[in-house]
Amino acid sequence: MTTRQLAPEDVSFLIGLVQRHSGIVLPPEKAYLFESRLLPVASRFGCADLRCLIDRLRTRPGTDLLEATVDAMTINETSFFRDSRPFDQLRRQILPQLLERRAAVRRLRLWSAAASTGQEAYSLAMCLEEAGERLRGWQVEILASDISVSAIAKAQKGSYSQFEVQRGVPAPLLVRHFTQNGKQWQVKPGLKKYVRFFQHNLLSPPRFSGSVDIVFLRNVLIYMDEPTRRRIVGHILSRLASDGYLFVGSTESLTGLVEGLVPVPGAHAVYQPVAAATTRATPAASRPTTANRPAETGIRRGLSSMTIGSS
Ligand SMILES: C[S@@+](CC[C@H](N)C(=O)[O-])C[C@H]1O[C@@H](n2cnc3c(N)ncnc32)[C@H](O)[C@@H]1O
Repeated sequence: MTTRQLAPEDVSFLIGLVQRHSGIVLPPEKAYLFESRLLPVASRFGCADLRCLIDRLRTRPGTDLLEATVDAMTINETSFFRDSRPFDQLRRQILPQLLERRAAVRRLRLWSAAASTGQEAYSLAMCLEEAGERLRGWQVEILASDISVSAIAKAQKGSYSQFEVQRGVPAPLLVRHFTQNGKQWQVKPGLKKYVRFFQHNLLSPPRFSGSVDIVFLRNVLIYMDEPTRRRIVGHILSRLASDGYLFVGSTESLTGLVEGLVPVPGAHAVYQPVAAATTRATPAASRPTTANRPAETGIRRGLSSMTIGSS
């Protein structure tokens, strides 16, 4: 059975299933993807064709089959230092500010929340490495999660093809942070140690404790409808430090989507909780000294006993 032969109700069933379990809204014109992506899933689960797979999904899906079906329909396009601007903003504007504000606690936690195959998280780790001396003795952690089990498995491996590293890793950073292993480039342990990968569905609240200082939530909201985007951003805000930063994709404006977030002046596609903006606008002399308390408390609570679960 080819996609052309899929009955319209089968196409709507699959589109609905993917949306319910991931938030991803697949337009009907992308229905041709079902065949190429779901046939391998069908054969893995003992089905000879899509008809059998769809029947199984309708009658007795089970978690493994649902997870594999959704995984197969995710779009994992990514690259190292993708779009470059967010990483430049991080290096030049955001990190220096945070390093100053966290100087007393010397802890920093980042979250790549739709990490795909790991390039974004390792790019963040390379940015932190560049901070060098300024981070000596700090406790630094990058959480990196994605709904796709297969993407997270690749990310954890940290092994990339020549083509993948050429898409974004400058030669000096390649030499410094990767070792060549045949045709593959392996992320060195010195970089890997910063990143903790785990599967997580953004439709659910985060399962780790404590707050994060910077969240990269890039190029995932574009696949969602507005209520889903609002729900996901709400979950993210529940973990973002009161003076933390939320980076989204360059075309993913959050303006008007949720209350309590404002764009960071002088940056593109970076947002902060309103409380942080208010603090920024208040003259230092009249600023309450406890302005950062929620963030610091969260970090203290979270880092030593952080538990990471999958959803
Ligand atoms: C296009 S990639 C973006 C990767 C990276 N953030 C970047 O900008 O290069 C989108 C990722 O979002 C993930 N994703 C989609 N829906 C998700 C959900 N509900 N929860 C977690 N991750 C999701 C996909 O699996 C995919 O890896």
